[in-house]
Order: sequence, then C-alpha cells, then structure tokens
Amino acid sequence: MPFIEAVDLRKTYRVGKVEVQALCGVSFTVDKGKFVSVVGPSGSGKSTLFYLLGGLTRPDGGRIVIDGEDIAQLSDAERTRMRKRKIGFVFQKFNLLPTLDARSNIEIALDIAEASLDRTYFGRITELLGISKRLAHRPAELSGGEQQRVALARALINQPAIVLADEPTGNLDSKNSEAVLGMLRQSNQELAQTVLMITHNPEAAEYGDQIIHMRDGQIVPPEQDPQWTGHHDDGGRGAGAGDPRSR
Ligand SMILES: Nc1ncnc2c1ncn2[C@@H]1O[C@H](COP(=O)(O)OP(=O)(O)O)[C@@H](O)[C@H]1O
Ligand SMILES: [Mg+2]
Repeated sequence: MPFIEAVDLRKTYRVGKVEVQALCGVSFTVDKGKFVSVVGPSGSGKSTLFYLLGGLTRPDGGRIVIDGEDIAQLSDAERTRMRKRKIGFVFQKFNLLPTLDARSNIEIALDIAEASLDRTYFGRITELLGISKRLAHRPAELSGGEQQRVALARALINQPAIVLADEPTGNLDSKNSEAVLGMLRQSNQELAQTVLMITHNPEAAEYGDQIIHMRDGQIVPPEQDPQWTGHHDDGGRGAGAGDPRSR
C-alpha cells in the first residue's frame, strides 16, 4: 500500500469572475520512506499541491490518502491533529516568528504537537544544521540561510513521518542549499521519513528517488517540462508509482 496517494486532485481558485485551474487531475503515489522531488515552472500548481497534501486547504475534487486515511473524511480537528503529529512543513519564506529566538522557534513545533522535547535529538539536528550556536538569536539577527536551517529544524523536531518542503532552497546560496538538502536526505534515510520537496533547481531535484514534473496543473513526462535540463527518465506520469531510482 502506498504511503501517500493522490487521486485525480482538482483545485480551482476564483478571484472575482476569473477562475484559475491550479490543479486539473493530479494522481500519483509515494511509497513510505521515499524522497520525491516536484519540479515545474512557476504557476504550474506545485504549491497548491503542497497545501492540499498537508491538509492546509481542501481540493475541489479528488482524494488524498495518507497512511491509509482519506484526509477528506477527517473532521477539521482530526485533520489538524494528523497534520501536527505526522507532517513537518518547510516553507520557502521560512515563516519564523520574529519575536522568538531560534530555540523557541524550533520548540514551538513541539508545543503545537503536544510532544515533549527529545534533548538528544534537538542537539543532534541543530548541530548537524550548524545552528547550535545561534539558538539565542531572533530571526532578524540570523542570515537567510540560518533562518531556513532553523525552519528545517522546526519541521524535523517532531520526527514527522512526512516532510513537505516548498522550495526550501529557493532563497539560499549553494552552501546553505547543500546543508538543507543534506539534512533532508539524512533525515529521510535515517528516520525513514517520506519527503516531498518542491524545487525549481534541477540539481536539488536530483536528491529525489522520484521526480514529479508539473506543468499547467498536471503531471507531465519530463520531456514536456521546459525547465528540465536533467537527464532522468523517471517515467513521467507514473513517476509516483513504484519507480524508485537507486541512490
Ligand atoms: N490563492 C490563490 N488565489 C488565486 N490564484 C492562485 C492562488 N494561489 C495560486 N493561484 C494560481 O494558481 C496557479 C498555480 O499556483 P501555484 O500552486 O502557486 O504554482 P507554483 O507553486 O507551481 O508556482 C497559478 O496560476 C497561480 O497564480
Ligand atoms: Mg510555489
């Protein structure tokens, strides 16, 4: 049984009289412990997919099944609970709270999930991410790369089964990008976390076991992705279904 299953997902935004079809029938599956990259041009629906998979918005049609649970069937409270316990989010713009120092920004994820602090794990990820000496600083006192690493620590601190990352290296230089990608990969491998990472960057996409290419709200084969300069043949539309590439 796949760990994440998206079936015919549809989402239309309405702004005044204008309708934008952000997703028009997206289906794929991801097995547990896989690292999936989602690539595609701006406006192709990647972030919309991220919000739907994370239960942050509802689809107009289709289904999302996570670990055997159809999330549309859950009550709002149950879905919120599932999200807090099971999913770690990394947003492109960090979304750190400006008044809290880095340590509190990370620990807040534990409070929200009503989980207790695992000091060893906290120490380990902050060390690996190179932020252990920056924990007393507020976001404004941190570089963009440090802020993103704090945001990643916050996403990982609960050891979530699923990590959803929307362009986590979008604002970073190559050194910081490597730190973030390396941590995602390590966390994926050591904790068997399922990672779904949206990225513009073909090099970052290479961290994935599978690559899903999006265009105009649909999954397309890689050769139809104009920005794709890589050389993978991951089967395109069926990319999610049992096509693990060797690392
Ligand atoms: N909240 C919104 N209201 C209206 N249109 C939106 C909204 N969010 C996204 N869109 C539109 O939906 C399409 C897909 O957007 P998005 O999922 O953000 O794509 P991507 O992340 O690939 O750039 C785009 O045309 C975008 O303008
Ligand atoms: Mg986006």
